[in-house]
Amino acid sequence: MKAIEIRNKYLDYFKSKGHAVIPSSPVIPENDPSVLFTTAGMQPLVPYLLGEKHPAGNKLTDYQKCIRTVDIDDVGDNRHLTFFEMLGNWSLGAYFKEEAIQMSFEFLTEVLHIPVEKLSVTVFAGDEDAPKDTVAENAWLKAGIPQERIYEFGKDDNWWIAGEEGPCGPDTEMFYDTGKPACSEHCNPSCGCGKYVEIWNNVFMEYYKSKETGYTKLKQQNVDTGLGLERMTMLLQGKQTPFDTELFVPTMEKLKELAKIDDINSRRIISDHIRSSMMIICDGGMPSNTDRGYILRRLIRRLTRHLNKLQISIEQFNNVIDITIDNLKEMYPELAENREKIHKVILEEQNKFMRTLEHGEREFEKAVKRARENGQEIISGDVVFKLYETYGFPLEMTIELAKEQDIKLDTTEFDKLFKEHQEKSKMGSENKFKGGLAEQNETTIAYHTATHLLHKALQIVLGEHATQKGSNITTERLRFDFAHPQKVTKEELDEVEKIVNEQIQKDLPVKCEEMTLEEAKASGAMGLFESKYGEKVKVYSIGDFSKEICGGPHVEHTGVLGTFKIKKEEASSAGVRRIKAVLLK
Ligand code: ALA
Repeated sequence: MKAIEIRNKYLDYFKSKGHAVIPSSPVIPENDPSVLFTTAGMQPLVPYLLGEKHPAGNKLTDYQKCIRTVDIDDVGDNRHLTFFEMLGNWSLGAYFKEEAIQMSFEFLTEVLHIPVEKLSVTVFAGDEDAPKDTVAENAWLKAGIPQERIYEFGKDDNWWIAGEEGPCGPDTEMFYDTGKPACSEHCNPSCGCGKYVEIWNNVFMEYYKSKETGYTKLKQQNVDTGLGLERMTMLLQGKQTPFDTELFVPTMEKLKELAKIDDINSRRIISDHIRSSMMIICDGGMPSNTDRGYILRRLIRRLTRHLNKLQISIEQFNNVIDITIDNLKEMYPELAENREKIHKVILEEQNKFMRTLEHGEREFEKAVKRARENGQEIISGDVVFKLYETYGFPLEMTIELAKEQDIKLDTTEFDKLFKEHQEKSKMGSENKFKGGLAEQNETTIAYHTATHLLHKALQIVLGEHATQKGSNITTERLRFDFAHPQKVTKEELDEVEKIVNEQIQKDLPVKCEEMTLEEAKASGAMGLFESKYGEKVKVYSIGDFSKEICGGPHVEHTGVLGTFKIKKEEASSAGVRRIKAVLLK
């Protein structure tokens, strides 16, 4: 069965059980800065799991595009993917454990025709936070899974939460027996030897975990499930890895045809990273040096290094991109719609990286040779650091090269040098404070000054606790995160807006002074006090209104800013609010 058929059968099955089919959300979360990418189908549904009404009803199903990059270094083995599709069904306070398990069982055995003997399940064993899940256990027994294939585990295996806080609960996981021999007499679904492959997870979300108050019961009992499409496809087709399924084969074959070196790991890494890069680009991601942008940059750079290794040129790679898009466009029409953009973004990043890569690899080879000539199996920290500082060669790539060459790196020494370097160049405080001000032009500079006015105005209206937690500026808007425990009211927002516009109308002069950190603090300047004592910092004053430690640059007079308008106020993360605002000319 092909992946697309499995997806369709899944959605059809749950539709027949009264679920509304909802569209996949983008891989870049729309309103959740606490995570870089959508990593599970439940993520876009969090407000509804917490009790808000979903417009499509209380039984939902979808396929969700997910990116998980914590395992990025493991891609190339036979299991890990940085992009995958999660099929899911949700009950938002409708059905609970028994019905969910009954449907999962029916779908696996009657729709996908998986023999019952192939299935094992795990349930939550119980602890001080929640009791043993006997309801789930009994539901499996009733469905037809014999007791000896129902395993009990604790929180490490059978409790699910996205991150550290949020809706969560005990889960029950379904495993497929690949038929491999047991690794020992204790072999079980949690041992990771490869005999059992997890295929589906049903989470019974009826708790909320907060760092401060621990576990509390949610308003409603939810079900959240996730079935990994690539894995299921691989198992149903009797393949050893997802790369052997139709989702990857055309890309893998083309790479094999073009490569002058036969290396299946490199082919897998490239095939995986193209998919994830494409999906991120389609949903609006761009390579950069921070957060999401950096992950995209890493993915493109890593695949480029592996192309280099296989001696496939960037021109030849263009063709691989098209083959991949054509292969996947039925499942993800957005890939074909964004074909030009995908090519452009990937190519630009590759071109930027090529020189760095060539230089860095050459230097690395030399360093390995030198070390080995001296009878050493370790590359010193200063060499690793030089690769990073002089050639801009990413540390993770040096680590990967070292692994391939089977030589160690002195990363402790590297860390020390890196820290010193950071302190020297004051990256610590100033760049962080600059936030997303990568592109500097008249507009972003104006937004930067407006951000200072906003920061001060918030402190006047809300109180001194409303300090900066993050800032991001584009040519379209400013975005400012600040500490505040609750929603800012309409009246407060109006007041903030009014204060900022008054300062603009006064056409206040903006002045920059350099002083030591102690002096800055003593003068009452706001800002991050992360710099070292005695270190010189820049302090920007806007008339007598605001004074902040900051790297700049700023406008010379506030009069040029135009009219300040708040467009949106929303939660950013626990205890942090976010404002988006624009300047109208
Ligand atoms: N949210 C659950 C998971 O990702 C279903 O496994």
